[in-house]
Parts: sequence; structure tokens; C-alpha cells
Amino acid sequence: QAPLRIGVAGLGNVGATLVRILQKDGAELTRKLGRQLEVVAVAARSRSRDRGIDISGLEWFDDPVALAKWDGIDLFIELIGGEDGPALAAVKAALEIGRPVVTANKALLAKHGVALARMAEEAGAQLGFEAAVAGGIPVIKTLREGLGSASIAKVFGIMNGTCNYILTRMGYEDISFADCLKDAQALGYAEADPSFDVEGHDTAHKLSILATLCFGYEIAPDKIRVEGISSISQHDIRVASDLGYKIKLLGIAERTENGIEQRVHPTFVPKGSAIAGVDGVMNAVALETDHVHELLMAGPGAGGPPTASSVLSDILDIARGTKVPPLGVPSAELLPFTEAPSRPH
Ligand code: HSE
Repeated sequence: QAPLRIGVAGLGNVGATLVRILQKDGAELTRKLGRQLEVVAVAARSRSRDRGIDISGLEWFDDPVALAKWDGIDLFIELIGGEDGPALAAVKAALEIGRPVVTANKALLAKHGVALARMAEEAGAQLGFEAAVAGGIPVIKTLREGLGSASIAKVFGIMNGTCNYILTRMGYEDISFADCLKDAQALGYAEADPSFDVEGHDTAHKLSILATLCFGYEIAPDKIRVEGISSISQHDIRVASDLGYKIKLLGIAERTENGIEQRVHPTFVPKGSAIAGVDGVMNAVALETDHVHELLMAGPGAGGPPTASSVLSDILDIARGTKVPPLGVPSAELLPFTEAPSRPH
């Protein structure tokens, strides 16, 4: 079988890690797949920056849209970030010519995901986005393929590694919010603009993607009530602990009598609960369904290797020709949104 020729746009933490994995493990992946995966081209802002990878033999593009359209690739990977701009233009350009796309861009999908999914389905091209929600946890695959028959009543979880890392360390160490955030940035967990993490918007993006998959409706992300963790102090965490709780930033979407309720806020969770045990950069996504009742998936939620490994899982599916079921999304009909009060989940 001919090699799968891959173009990667965006060589930040995740992009550079992905290229490194593909270069380092290429022979092993080829052996497993029976097909060679080959990064042939990259697009990024700076050609000379040291990223610890060898890009000297690769085709270079300054413009990700030109890469997306280039006929030397079979698959376009978007790791640029941002809800509009070059990321959107490049993904559209690839899908328009029926080229498969893999993206980790939750902000893009929260805003344009339904339109892009429709475009992909019409063009007969795959759109993989496993890495967009909860880093290394295969939650998208589980929702699209594993739980097709179940009716989901509620999805909730810890969806931002940076916030969970900060809340965990503040609970165990005498360390300030600002210092924890700096460490999360140094470890490659935080967004380029970390206010997206700490003010809850990144969680809201991910929640809106999960809610669309779980409930089959196009749910407006701007209708989510969002409160972040920037006002949480060590005193709050201690008081919660004395009362038998941990504080976690949860994203929650559930069916109610009035419609789908969606909210993101710091939440008291009982110390003995499964979700309270999810600490550090770990994420967890819990589903309540009619058949399996409560299902909890936990794993690393941010950082180069876990996120790149989810990108890689989409690449492998595309290389194998695995057809994921269409999203079946959604009618333009919106369930009424109910303003959510702050209360324990
Ligand atoms: N900044 C995000 C987080 C990265 O901390 O979870 C993964 O989406």
C-alpha cells in the first residue's frame, strides 16, 4: 500500500511532539499498520526555531492553507489553534477538496464543529478530533462508536489539565496560584493565553463538543454558564477539605425537564468519590446513561505526548481506512437552554 503522506500545520508543543513520535516510531508503526506513515511537509510561523526535531528534509510552507491544498499530502493535521483565522481557513481548504483532516483544536470545533462535520460528511472526508477533548482519553471514539445505542442523560467531568493541576497542588503544598500556573505553562499544559484555562473557557469549549455528541443537538457554546478558578484561594480549598470535599473545576451538561443545562464552575466533590481521586494533570469524563449507568474515563488531559497520541490514533484510523460513523449532527433545532444555578453536581 502507498505511504500515507502527512502535512502538519502548527509546530507548537503538540505538533513538534507528533512529528518526533512519527519520526522515532515510524518503523514500528509501519510494521503494525502494514502502511508507511510519512510526515512530508510542515507549516509554522518560524522556520529556524529549535523544536528538537529534524525538519530539514520536509517541504516547508509559511501558509497553512497552501499546505492544506498541496497535492503532495493525503492527510492534513491542524495543530495551529484559534477559533477562526488560519486554522479555520486551512481545515476548510482541505475538506473542500475531500482531504481528511485531524485537528486538536477545541476552540475551532466549539465554534464551527457542526459546520465542519457537515462539510466533511458531504465531501466523504474523515474529520478526526480525538485530541480536542480530554487529551489522551479516547472519549470521542467511545461516544461515536462505543455508546451508539445508549441514551445519555448527563456528561460531566474534569476537562482542563491546567486547572486540575493548579487546584491539586494548591491543596497539597503551600504554593500560590500564580506559581502553579507558571509551572503548568512550563510543563506545556496551558493554552497560549492561559486565561482560557483558568477562566473556564477551555472547559466550556470541550463541554460543548461533548454535549453535541451526547445529545445530538447543536448546542451554542456561548449559552454555557462559565465560572473559572482564578478566585479560588488556598483557604477555600482547606475549608472544603475540612468539610470532606475537594474543589474541582467541572464541566456539566445534562438533560433537564426544561432542556439541556450546561455549566462550568468550581464544584465541591466528596473526597471519597471517583472524580475526587483524579488529581494533577489528569482529566476525567463521566457519563450517565440508561444502560451503563455511570461510566468514568480518566487519563492525562494535557501536555505534548498524551495529546499527540490521540492525534496519532486518528491518523492510524485514517491510514487503515476505518470509517467512523457519521456524527449524525444535528438538526439546527436547539433544545431550550436553561440557565443553570450553581450547585453541586
Ligand atoms: N490547556 C489545555 C488543558 C490543554 O490544560 O487542559 C489540553 O486541551
